[in-house]
Amino acid sequence: MLDITHVRSVLTDVYDLAPSATLAAEMQDIYARMDRVISPPDWAVYAPYVRAINALKKERNAVILGHNYMTPEIFHGVSDFVGDSLQLAMKASDVKEDVIVQAGVHFMAETSKILSPQKTVLMPDMAAGCSLAESITADGVEEMRAKYPGAPVVSYVNTTAEVKAASDICCTSSNAVQIVNAMDSDTVIMTPDQYLAQNVANESHKNVVYWPGSCIVHEQYTAKDLRDFREWNPGTQLIAHPECTPDVVAEADFSGSTSGILKYVHDKKPERAMLITECSMASNIADELPEVEFVGPCNMCPYMKKITLEKILYVLHTMEGQVEVDEDVADKARKSVQAMIDLSRKLGL
Ligand code: 13P
Ligand code: SF4
Repeated sequence: MLDITHVRSVLTDVYDLAPSATLAAEMQDIYARMDRVISPPDWAVYAPYVRAINALKKERNAVILGHNYMTPEIFHGVSDFVGDSLQLAMKASDVKEDVIVQAGVHFMAETSKILSPQKTVLMPDMAAGCSLAESITADGVEEMRAKYPGAPVVSYVNTTAEVKAASDICCTSSNAVQIVNAMDSDTVIMTPDQYLAQNVANESHKNVVYWPGSCIVHEQYTAKDLRDFREWNPGTQLIAHPECTPDVVAEADFSGSTSGILKYVHDKKPERAMLITECSMASNIADELPEVEFVGPCNMCPYMKKITLEKILYVLHTMEGQVEVDEDVADKARKSVQAMIDLSRKLGL
């Protein structure tokens, strides 16, 4: 576990990280992307970290890949590329820089390392896991194969490298339906998200069988919450991630991956929207879409929220937190991830 007292003493020996209203004002151009959701005193705290990280990135020839669930100061302040799991994986496969800092969770960093084995991949906090990735091992995949002989295994990217290696192909929430439909079999095994699998089954002609994993963030929403919300705030567009249960997805006006959700809100510009997903999503687009009022509960992913500016600066400074994947496992996992990327490109996704 990262010792934050140690992290702070290492960083404050080298960098001037004291809150600075002067620096905050000098960095107004960056602040303008998030000034609806980050207060001026908070920006004065973040600005020294943002400046230090952006300078160190150049020195180290590093790129920061930020998932859509990162907090605004990471998403807008230091990320070079932001997106959903599929977009981040595609980007990781053709990064020019020597170092990738994964502002996301561990399975995303492993995916980057699998796709770019010659690069140094840094994880700001190794404890940033995922309840889905933790729900299944490679033995679980074999268990499913024994139960459904001959059925191909489509594993969500929210899995460890070992599970990817034991699978036939990967998918993300933005291509799951198309990947399952492309399988040459009537029965398709999906791991590890039972709700994504059921939502895919509702849109597919395949017999989808699945592992009983779930996302601890999305499973909290219920269809009743959505109905109550509509009654309380009529006219609100309800937009859900497909890791939610099928009855939540059925109650929503739209369902899609994190980038699908962002695109939908950009295109439709509803007067009021409730994003039934991780809380930072709405904060990250609040400045771009001042005409949209974001309402509703704030469910945070405790794993994603382990990533902070302080930890990003620390791993870039020390080059600790390097992600390694066993070569044999990586070779097999690469086949599954690359098969997904190739099929997604072929299908124009
Ligand atoms: P996306 O692929 O939609 O970004 O989802 C990743 C994730 O972890 C959602 O909880
Ligand atoms: Fe995993 Fe859910 Fe967090 Fe996404 S939101 S990283 S699926 S626990």
